[in-house]
Amino acid sequence: MRIAFYSMTGNVRRFIDNAGVRDEYDVFEITPGSKETVLDDPFVLVTPTYGFGGVPAQVEAFLEVNSSNLKGVASSGNRNWGAHYAQAGQEISGTYNVPLMMKFELHGTPAEREEFIEKAGAINESIEREEIQPH
Ligand SMILES: Cc1cc2nc3c(=O)[nH]c(=O)nc-3n(C[C@H](O)[C@H](O)[C@H](O)COP(=O)(O)O)c2cc1C
Repeated sequence: MRIAFYSMTGNVRRFIDNAGVRDEYDVFEITPGSKETVLDDPFVLVTPTYGFGGVPAQVEAFLEVNSSNLKGVASSGNRNWGAHYAQAGQEISGTYNVPLMMKFELHGTPAEREEFIEKAGAINESIEREEIQPH
């Protein structure tokens, strides 16, 4: 399993770096230059929220070519945005019918990073089970 993320001002990148997931998972950063790269493996996505609960355009472009491998989404936001708080995650979860793993504020707390590691681990295990026991 991979972890794909997008970060415009560095918060999501910091969340990924501080979670220490780069040893266990192949981490892919969505950038303007890489947004149309097709990943051949299942992945979970971590995205910020911009523009009144919106999904960043780079992430939308990436999902257009990669949504079939999307297994879950986590989103960053800022509670100052009220009802729009980290809503990109809900949007993506609804559009692509994948679990919303969690929302976190800015670069997240240690407890939030721990929650993400656990949830990513559970998704990874279920992917590996499916690969071993096809049905
Ligand atoms: C112009 C702008 C619009 C934003 N819109 C939202 C929003 O609608 N909802 C939300 O929860 N956070 C919003 N945010 C906050 C960002 O999602 C938050 O800072 C996030 O951690 C940024 O991640 P990044 O640094 O990895 O790009 C906005 C921030 C900016 C600068």
